[in-house]
Amino acid sequence: MRDLPSVAGLSLTLLCCGLLLAPPAMAQPSKPGEQVYREVCVVCHAAGVANAPKFGDKKAWTPLIAEGQAVLTAHAWVGVRGMPAKGGNPQLSLDEFSRAAAYMARAAGGNWKDPDAKMLAAIKAEEKKRIASLNTKK
Ligand code: HEC
Repeated sequence: MRDLPSVAGLSLTLLCCGLLLAPPAMAQPSKPGEQVYREVCVVCHAAGVANAPKFGDKKAWTPLIAEGQAVLTAHAWVGVRGMPAKGGNPQLSLDEFSRAAAYMARAAGGNWKDPDAKMLAAIKAEEKKRIASLNTKK
């Protein structure tokens, strides 16, 4: 009976240490939107190359943001005119791309969140629609 509290205390300590030592990087393998923006999108979107909507330019972004996060993100992901598919970086995941798009939308006054599973599913659905509509055009 005298030993019980210390045993409980010890296992609690071990449990806590185990949690603290678990590498947090494992839980987040892909990059945050700001980093993706700086590494990939900045090349065109900082200066507005080829009419890219400029970072932080509310006038340019407001009508785009109004198209909705799933639609706009999907169209950009597939590519539109001067906007290359995946921002021209085939290594980019849809998660990362979508977070970068949300980051740019927020910088221009939008309230887009980093996409959760539901939003990602909506983006994928829009991506399919977009590809289908591009394939029927000749
Ligand atoms: C090579 C230059 C280039 C790069 C790199 C680039 N973009 Fe773009 N982006 C453009 C251009 C040009 C447009 C305007 C396309 C148009 O409407 O004519 C555009 C438009 C967009 C749009 C609006 C799409 C629409 O339907 O009008 C989004 C969203 C977007 N880009 C997101 C991104 C993200 C996110 C990245 C980085 C992962 C990125 N872009 C990287 C050139 C680029």
